[in-house]
Amino acid sequence: MTMPGPWPYTATRSDVGVLTVGGVAVTDLAAEYGTPLWVVDEEDLRERCRRYREGFPGVDVTYASKAWCTMGVLQIVDEEGLLIDVASEGEMHTALVAGVPADRLILHGNNKSEHELDRALEAGVLRIVVDSFDELERLERLAAARDVVVPIWLRITPGIDAHTHEYVRTGHDDAKFGFTLSLGLADEAFARALELDHLDVVGIHAHIGSQIFGTDPFIANAEVTLDLLARWREQHGVVLDELNLGGGMGIRYTHEDHPVEVARYGKAVLETVAERCEALDYPQPRLIVEPGRAIVGPSTVTLYEVGTVKPLPGLTTWVSIDGGMSDNIRPALYDAEHEVALVSRESDAEPRAVTVVGKHCESGDLVREHAPLPSDLAVGDLLAVAATGAYTSSMASNYNRLPRPAAVLVRDGQVRPLLRRETLDDVVRRDVSLR
Ligand SMILES: Cc1ncc(COP(=O)(O)O)c(C=O)c1O
Repeated sequence: MTMPGPWPYTATRSDVGVLTVGGVAVTDLAAEYGTPLWVVDEEDLRERCRRYREGFPGVDVTYASKAWCTMGVLQIVDEEGLLIDVASEGEMHTALVAGVPADRLILHGNNKSEHELDRALEAGVLRIVVDSFDELERLERLAAARDVVVPIWLRITPGIDAHTHEYVRTGHDDAKFGFTLSLGLADEAFARALELDHLDVVGIHAHIGSQIFGTDPFIANAEVTLDLLARWREQHGVVLDELNLGGGMGIRYTHEDHPVEVARYGKAVLETVAERCEALDYPQPRLIVEPGRAIVGPSTVTLYEVGTVKPLPGLTTWVSIDGGMSDNIRPALYDAEHEVALVSRESDAEPRAVTVVGKHCESGDLVREHAPLPSDLAVGDLLAVAATGAYTSSMASNYNRLPRPAAVLVRDGQVRPLLRRETLDDVVRRDVSLR
């Protein structure tokens, strides 16, 4: 039976109700690797990379590695021909150690240190996205010291506030990222950059938000940024030919989510760019998009074992699993919802709404409120949480000193480890004893 909605492409249930992903039964994975466990469907991950490349012909699709930055994921994404965006030296280091060529990397960040910038120059990353006036001067100094001219993008804050279902164009945009267009800072930054001998502004970048469901905010972003490029051409006689429209495409976490198909998103953006360029008589720039969540999010499920079931008469039934906010902070941080299912057996029992919680000492340690799960749910059952590839492992912590989970890649009945489970020794490794 095919799993619907937010589950990975290859997810099915066996005739005894066991979830299989990549041809591997999750009960076997839990027995061998333990729980909590991130299970990544390799076919799903590769297929989403391909759909993006097909949906955006001629565009440099770039994986925003903040979504999940681990060597195996980066290697797969690199093999599928995506560029990779890194937002810190740690992410850059992971990519380089994974064997991703430096000239496939784009460096982001609102506070890159001298050391980070210099390492990027040394490695020879493809583009550095400059985020502030301080950074313009810092990078100019470092480039001068190396006697190189560095191609950069300026990060623009375009005044488009994208929510899940709508967007607004705000006159004033109070953001920690980028040069705010409405305040004249983008213009000032461009003028300043033109004066600097060792920086070459070759394009601009504008990312408008995350988990966006409509195409309108992306269309607005393309229009606003192209208008800006055309205005700069008038003012400075300079044509910039690279435009990065950021990431932010929404994905399905539950059955209620209805994200836009990649092909529709691509078509809307490409048509808008073509029309606007024609209207402005501006040469079509090289385009870049930067999805993170939409590449890796849907590929993964997290397996947990039920440890306690606590029905409070007339109140909530609390189901506790063996992980929680340390391996998925999203429900606590953003009130995010993920679909949850019993995956280790079949059950004909009536569903009842329960609240699935983690094992941390924190009331906000939720997995899912009001999850409709079979009323015979019992200790030892396995639950799977859908669409946990993005912003879960990458935001994982050791809160309450829980060792962070393992991750495995599954495909055609084969299992390959991606992350080994942390041990208790790992957990205390950085501690310095005073005894
Ligand atoms: C600059 C930039 N690009 C891309 C992304 C990826 O966003 P998403 O994972 O929602 O596609 C982010 C997310 O914060 C970002 O800040």
